[in-house]
Amino acid sequence: MRAVTWHGRADVQVDTVPDPTLQEDTDVIVEITSSGICGSDLHLIEVMAPFMTKGDVMGHEPMGVVREVGSAVTAVKPGDRVVVPFNISCGTCWMCSQGLQSQCETTQNREQGFGASLFGYTKLYGQVPGGQAEYLRVPFGNTLPIKVPEGAPDDRFVYLSDVLPTSWQAVQYAATPPGGTLLVLGLGPIGDMCTRIAHHLGIEHVYAADVVPERLARASARGTNVIRSTKKDDVVQAIQDATAGRGADAVIDAVGMEAHGSPLAQIAQKATAVVPDAVMEKVMQVAGIDRLAALNTAIDAVRRGGTISLSGVYGGATDPLPLMRMFDKQVQLRMGQANVWRWVPDILPLLVDDDPLGVDDFATHRVPLEQAPQAYANFREKKDGAVKVLLQP
Ligand SMILES: NC(=O)c1ccc[n+]([C@@H]2O[C@H](COP(=O)([O-])OP(=O)(O)OC[C@H]3O[C@@H](n4cnc5c(N)ncnc54)[C@H](O)[C@@H]3O)[C@@H](O)[C@H]2O)c1
Ligand SMILES: [Zn+2]
Ligand SMILES: [Zn+2]
Repeated sequence: MRAVTWHGRADVQVDTVPDPTLQEDTDVIVEITSSGICGSDLHLIEVMAPFMTKGDVMGHEPMGVVREVGSAVTAVKPGDRVVVPFNISCGTCWMCSQGLQSQCETTQNREQGFGASLFGYTKLYGQVPGGQAEYLRVPFGNTLPIKVPEGAPDDRFVYLSDVLPTSWQAVQYAATPPGGTLLVLGLGPIGDMCTRIAHHLGIEHVYAADVVPERLARASARGTNVIRSTKKDDVVQAIQDATAGRGADAVIDAVGMEAHGSPLAQIAQKATAVVPDAVMEKVMQVAGIDRLAALNTAIDAVRRGGTISLSGVYGGATDPLPLMRMFDKQVQLRMGQANVWRWVPDILPLLVDDDPLGVDDFATHRVPLEQAPQAYANFREKKDGAVKVLLQP
């Protein structure tokens, strides 16, 4: 089959790789019809490169049609339309039963000290082949795939794999009080969807900061107050002006480790390009390499006693954080990979009749799998208006 594979920094290619096969009697094979490119994929082709291996199949936002099922699978059958969550979670362990699917105890990577395995991710998370491919092997066929109705185009459902539950969790974790103010940092697919969910849930004052014109325009068109800067002082000033100097009740960081405006960490991240992977792997596990600009903005922009909800992914082991200031401000901090299944029952009803979150025209680009290298480059460099790209094998 054809698949998007990792070859090195900023280098993905489309290769022919062996078709996946059933390995356990609970596996299913899904023929992929749409597969998103995520901001997390951009981390894999830059900062997280030391944890990747040439030939790894990328992608964790897939949906498609079940083609084969193992002998013990009863919940889905060939021909069913399914979305595949990015967490590989068993659905039956203690963590899964608590709604903490990203910490699944069946797929936790204990040797590495990391949580549940993820499709198309680093060796810290199981190095499982991903879904930017023609076919995907999906374990836990009775509990993992999300069955979705026939009829509407893939755009309706594909974001259930990641964008929707990630953004939903970010807004829930932010816990903006009634009448309160929410600030979203970053207007990539995740930040954009956070603002939509915030409006849908009735959060009264929604602000968002970024510098990419088309991303700001999308958010502004749906009623978000946009701040056209990613500089900490500008953003903090704008939010203080809006809240009589108090600060935002809640801030979502939808940026993560590659934020603009962290010159020292940027040098450390560039070092990942010249230092041998084996050395850099050790450095990253013991040192801080994240660009913390967005997180520092969040800490300054949140009001005393407010909440910071981190959905942007960070990767350094000992990043310096202003703990004295966080403690003094009594900041509440919640974060983590999204627990996809935890939020599916809340989100699915919003994808059935009307389209309150605007998923139907959320994608800016739908391109054949073969065009993945160019699509990655455009998304990474924010060229050609690329905000959300769906690959369609
Ligand atoms: N927690 C999860 O489960 C989960 C799931 C999906 C994605 N993510 C993470 O969410 C983050 C966003 O993903 P995305 O797909 O929207 O990516 P993206 O890279 O398209 O979006 C990031 C946006 O942040 C903006 N930005 C950069 N520096 C900024 C700053 N200092 N202040 C404000 N904005 C700034 C960029 O211009 C860009 O538009 C990534 O870190 C990704 O890994 C987490
Ligand atoms: Zn993702
Ligand atoms: Zn589990």
